[in-house]
Amino acid sequence: MNCPRLRSWFSERYDVDGIRDLFRKKTVPAHRYEIAYYTGGTTLFLFAIQFVTGMVLSLYYIPYFEHAHGSIIEIVTKLNMGWFFRSLHHWGAQIAIVVLFVHLWCTLLLKSYRKPRELLWFSGFILLVISIFFGLSGYLLLWDERAFAAVRVATGGAGNLPLVGGFIKAFLRGGMDVSGDTLTRFYAFHVSILPLFTVLIVAGHVLLVQYHGMSVPLSVSGQTRKDVPFFPNVFYKDLIVWLIVLGMVVTFATLFPPEIRGKADPLAPAPENIKPEWYFLFLFQTLKLFPGQIFGLNGETIAILLITAGILFLLFIPLFDIKSQRGEKSPLFTWIGMIYLLYFLVMTVIGFVS
Ligand code: HEM
Repeated sequence: MNCPRLRSWFSERYDVDGIRDLFRKKTVPAHRYEIAYYTGGTTLFLFAIQFVTGMVLSLYYIPYFEHAHGSIIEIVTKLNMGWFFRSLHHWGAQIAIVVLFVHLWCTLLLKSYRKPRELLWFSGFILLVISIFFGLSGYLLLWDERAFAAVRVATGGAGNLPLVGGFIKAFLRGGMDVSGDTLTRFYAFHVSILPLFTVLIVAGHVLLVQYHGMSVPLSVSGQTRKDVPFFPNVFYKDLIVWLIVLGMVVTFATLFPPEIRGKADPLAPAPENIKPEWYFLFLFQTLKLFPGQIFGLNGETIAILLITAGILFLLFIPLFDIKSQRGEKSPLFTWIGMIYLLYFLVMTVIGFVS
């Protein structure tokens, strides 16, 4: 589109040429691991889908425990294309979490967290926690028996943390047990508090990427590598990846609309063989490995302490991996990353089949 009057209107007020030069000068390193660079942008794209479909659903969803379940049934049965938007929101979330984990493992194994990108890692980690909480809070909004039982188990598990556990459990539930108050709270988290923090932290994360530029893996740095312009080379490839991912989300949404079980009944016993969402399965399986009592101490509390230690180690990995901070290869930390990845995959698969 060529509109000289509009362009001169902007040029008189803003440094349009300067901004254009900034985009023109942006380059991205090309090497054999460059596929990793597409994972962050794809996560961003999937988050955009979640925002749009979420906004549509919020026009009709009723966040009150007596009507929440019924309002979703109305969305999928009576609203024009309502089932499709709900299904897109469901599958968009699943695929966003998969891509987010892939992004995490790529940046972990390529040691992109090393100096000077520690803040990128920390801000990314906060985004991971937010995303998981998005999943948990969104799950309860369905207010069906399975979501109700899963949130009861998850918030109960958090309650086993020593010292702060009781507070976290009561804060999440908004009372002693999962109830209509929990639904109100999770709704507030899901549609206002978490999106606000997401937008702010994603903006910081992406600005840091622009500031530092893309990292180059240590195994590549020494070799002759070339830099390619972001516009149009990498940008077009980004668009292709986004189109493929959009195709996947639409296909899954059309072929496998998620089921809705019966309305939650706080007084009914938990349904048989209750399982959390797939990204919590590794935690669920880990808890099962521990006996009720270990040397007179509560086994679940010990398990939760070990899991917390494992997660904190991953969070602070840029500080522990001294070798890569000095720009040297650190195979030990590659192994640690692989062990984390394998543990997550094996436990998730066992959780699925058991
Ligand atoms: C909502 C979630 C997230 C979004 C939207 C996002 C977005 C992005 C984007 C667009 C990039 C630049 C392209 C790329 O390297 O793929 C990037 C880079 C990066 N992200 Fe994320 N990210 C998210 C979560 C995470 C998580 C969970 C981590 C790890 C804990 C992380 C760590 C990093 C690092 C270290 C880089 C720099 C990569 C490099 O310089 O090579 N991000 N992110």
